[in-house]
Amino acid sequence: MADLNDPRTYWWRNAVVYQVYVRSFADSDGDGIGDLPGITSRLPHLADLGVDALWITPFYTSPQHDHGYDVADYRDVDPLFGTLSDADDLVARAHELGLKVVVDLVPNHTSDQHEWFQAALAAGPGSPERARYLFRDTPEGKPAGTPPNNWESVFGGPAWTQVDDGQWYLHLFDSTQPDLDWRNPEVPAMFEDVLRFWLDRGVDGFRVDVAHGLFKEASLRDQIVAEGGRASSGQVNTDHSMVSRDLKDEPMWDQPEVHEVYRAWHRVLDEAGPDRMAVAEAWTQTPESMAAFVRPDELDQAFNFAWLLTDWSAEAFATVITDTLAAVEPVGASPTWVLSNHDVVRHVTRYGGGARGLARGRAATLAMLALPGSSYLYQGEELGLEQVDVAPEDRQDPSYLRTGEVGRDGCRVPIPWGGSEAPYAFGPGEGQPWIPQPEDWASLTVDAQTGAEGSTLEFYRAALAARRDFAWTAGEDVEMLDLGADVLAFRRGHITVVLNCGEAPVPLPAGDLLLASAPVDGGELPGDTAAWLR
Ligand code: GLC
Ligand code: MG
Repeated sequence: MADLNDPRTYWWRNAVVYQVYVRSFADSDGDGIGDLPGITSRLPHLADLGVDALWITPFYTSPQHDHGYDVADYRDVDPLFGTLSDADDLVARAHELGLKVVVDLVPNHTSDQHEWFQAALAAGPGSPERARYLFRDTPEGKPAGTPPNNWESVFGGPAWTQVDDGQWYLHLFDSTQPDLDWRNPEVPAMFEDVLRFWLDRGVDGFRVDVAHGLFKEASLRDQIVAEGGRASSGQVNTDHSMVSRDLKDEPMWDQPEVHEVYRAWHRVLDEAGPDRMAVAEAWTQTPESMAAFVRPDELDQAFNFAWLLTDWSAEAFATVITDTLAAVEPVGASPTWVLSNHDVVRHVTRYGGGARGLARGRAATLAMLALPGSSYLYQGEELGLEQVDVAPEDRQDPSYLRTGEVGRDGCRVPIPWGGSEAPYAFGPGEGQPWIPQPEDWASLTVDAQTGAEGSTLEFYRAALAARRDFAWTAGEDVEMLDLGADVLAFRRGHITVVLNCGEAPVPLPAGDLLLASAPVDGGELPGDTAAWLR
């Protein structure tokens, strides 16, 4: 029996967590939109795959302007996705199968349909109702129509919207997602209650949306924008131009006061038991600022977007590994690794798409799964899915609707489970689900790949099974090895991991081949391939 007083034994420190994008995982009622009973019915797939936990994106009452990241009631399930009792069934069934359940918490903003925002609109300027959000007047001496500062929404356009009486409210995302004022004590009090509500229902953890948001510099001063643009680090751009390494002036992100909130949440989680966790989505600018979120009395983990932002380069991967381990070591947190999620271009496509993108994607995954800490997988990556080129008329992402740029729909296409045409057993209905699926997915379905030699699904199953054996025993030390400029190589415990980022084959080091991301023979590791050796 694990000693839960020893933090090294907490389940999430070495977990593989599978992200379920609720609208697109499985549909039980034939409306073309995924839902909670759909997830419950497919939990055996996750157990077979060999993951430890699932994180489910927001399924709370919401007008769905940002597909659930605009919450109107944090304590209820949207009828689109089911009922509270469906949520209870999901948690119970997951626990029966040995899977932990992490739910999404969205504290930076509410929906404009939340009762607080509706009351704020009705109550007018200067009211306590408006003081839960960031309402401001047009700056003195400026023409009507001038917003309070120069901030831009992550989804494009100004971060301020004007209401009928002339005041403005701040929204770092869509105008239907007003930012809360976390300096108002009613706000933290509400969210502590929400945490307790879901902890009481048995969830094992929370993924904290925009965890680096919440507080804005109190003055709400202008952002100092460097010449040549402003690319916010609030989120990865949906094109391939990722955030730069230069530090930017960001009075809207990562303010010191936010850490007090997470200390309070740590106490709330502790009250519920020693094995409840929280993982931060925090697009911070440096590894050190990320580590601040996972100090021993704050959140438990933070997504390490550095791995996802890294180009296909052995040297770059090695730097990320070294920097990540160095950043979390002083605070004692477990590192995390992630290649894809519902906000970014799927990694097979980022790596060039087609056979080569898939080979690289599998290789990067195998290297990732050998690293200490937790790996976060995104639904569909176990099938090798690529980003879909969604037709303009089918796009639904608010960032597309605000800017006309492609947006994130292409990584949110519903999962193909079986059959030879849409909806590929996604649900009982006929025809296309909420985002149309491509015509050539028949060979990518879970059914088609199950038992098929060399399939991406069987590769993930084998890799997760192999990882299980050693994740808890291999320790947290990683020794980097030098096998040439194109090769990422490291040793952890009794495993040596080799990832060949080059094109030419390289000799494998000594040891028994345990598994590889592509066929290997003759003692050489082909390009775009990774292997584990004992
Ligand atoms: C996070 C979510 C993203 C959402 C945004 C606003 O970045 O991952 O999907 O649009 O927050 O809540
Ligand atoms: Mg449905």
